[in-house]
Amino acid sequence: MWNLPLVPEQASDYAKQYDLLFYATTGLTIFFTVAVSAVVLFFVLKYRKGSTANRAGAVEGHLGVELVWTGIPLLLGLAMFVWAAKLYADSRIPPDNALDITVIGKQWMWHIQHPNGVRENNELHVPAGQPIKLTMISQDVIHSFFLPQFRVKQDVLPGRYTHLWFTPTKPGKYHLFCAEYCGMQHSEMGGYVYVMEPKEYQEWLAAGGERRALPRTPEQAGKQVFEQMACGQCHGDVKSERGMPLAGTYGRMVRLKGGKSVKADEAYLRESLLDPNAKVVDGYWPIMPSYKGQLTEEQILHLIAYLKSLRAAGEPAMEGASSAAGSQAPGARTPAAAGGE
Ligand code: CUA
Repeated sequence: MWNLPLVPEQASDYAKQYDLLFYATTGLTIFFTVAVSAVVLFFVLKYRKGSTANRAGAVEGHLGVELVWTGIPLLLGLAMFVWAAKLYADSRIPPDNALDITVIGKQWMWHIQHPNGVRENNELHVPAGQPIKLTMISQDVIHSFFLPQFRVKQDVLPGRYTHLWFTPTKPGKYHLFCAEYCGMQHSEMGGYVYVMEPKEYQEWLAAGGERRALPRTPEQAGKQVFEQMACGQCHGDVKSERGMPLAGTYGRMVRLKGGKSVKADEAYLRESLLDPNAKVVDGYWPIMPSYKGQLTEEQILHLIAYLKSLRAAGEPAMEGASSAAGSQAPGARTPAAAGGE
């Protein structure tokens, strides 16, 4: 009975900060609830009807007291707000050196793919001490990726990428749940996160994960989709009437018809595949067919990985295209090199 923990184990950097905020908020709330209730109770009893308490010299108003009991809670409230807002903002912005892993949710399992192509289902192997960034999408209904011991949870939506990041701190086995009712077997849609020593993780990854076979990388798989779908007929290496060359496009601002600009990020590339006429690039006709229903979410993720890896000739690697460089030598991405602090 006394083994029953109040909260799950803390297994990520964020968990510690999150719990501290949670305890501070709860502590302050309890303190003021008890203090105010005690004073109310004391005066209710002391000055109840018929009591002989001395009622002479009652204070009608006191500016000093008003300022103190308004000002102190105000400052405390603002401090909690700034603290929580900062923590929330940090939890939404993954660091640049994070390891990119993709997650596809479907009824009723989690498909996960590592940068070198290793896949796993309902299991996620990660190295300790390294920030991990998940790019997630659902193939059917809304799911929610929930790691209670890491204190992170994010809805996984059809039609839109969402992200989650965390830095696991302790090697071990942790729960993975789907936290959004998604149908009959929702309660079984879960598994485990295995946090490994960085060296162990590199060995696991290099050996091809549980399946012990080195698969294709997402870029290689994406290149094959690109060729199968004959994307290059319009999006060749040189500018053509029909479509723009795609090398070096990822991560850059693109000018649209009508004068607006948009950043060519994952969401824009995905939209352009499924709804090409939504945001047409300046100088081109809206003639690209939609690939809705022709590509699986996995193929779209692979195509985007391939597009990220394409760079214009002679251009330096762009931020955000770093996963392409990393995937060629996953072994080089050690936490020591990547996680500087
Ligand atoms: Cu997926 Cu619940």
